[in-house]
Amino acid sequence: MTAPPRIAVYPGSFDPITRGHEDLIRRARSFADSVIVAVSVNVVKQPLFSLEERVALIRQAVDDPAVDVRSFDGLLADFARAAGASVIVRGLRAVSDFEYEFQMALMNRKLAPGVETVFLVPAFDLTYLSSSLVREVARFGGDVSQLVHPVVQKALKKKFGK
Ligand code: PNS
Repeated sequence: MTAPPRIAVYPGSFDPITRGHEDLIRRARSFADSVIVAVSVNVVKQPLFSLEERVALIRQAVDDPAVDVRSFDGLLADFARAAGASVIVRGLRAVSDFEYEFQMALMNRKLAPGVETVFLVPAFDLTYLSSSLVREVARFGGDVSQLVHPVVQKALKKKFGK
């Protein structure tokens, strides 16, 4: 009997996708047969990029047929279960991430007991990176070429006109 494919869900706001997210997707692919990048519809604050734009940027930045990009509304646990995922992947950059991530992992386990949360450590030089920092730097015309895929850099330039 062959084992069922291991599907990992990598959820987030991705406003926009950064080199840090790309790094985590690659790392998730080292143990998952396929990765579903799950873009949350419900971003607390008004996002810079629309849902459609966020999804399209990920599709352009990630060139791997085993990576699927989908949006989701409602609970992540429900989405993960419906997608047949056995793993939820989250990145841990710093101690400050831990409290929130731990709460979320425990709640997701309660809601979907069969789905394990796995925390991945990003590449050393991407540890400080976040979408909010990228937006901030781009807003004021700073160079984000090392931080995001060229298509994202172009989209940021278009948004901010610089
Ligand atoms: O990139 P982010 O903003 O840190 O991602 C947070 C996200 C989207 C993964 C989280 O807010 C989420 O899972 N939202 C969906 C609603 C949900 O399931 N909330 C309860 C989590 S315990």
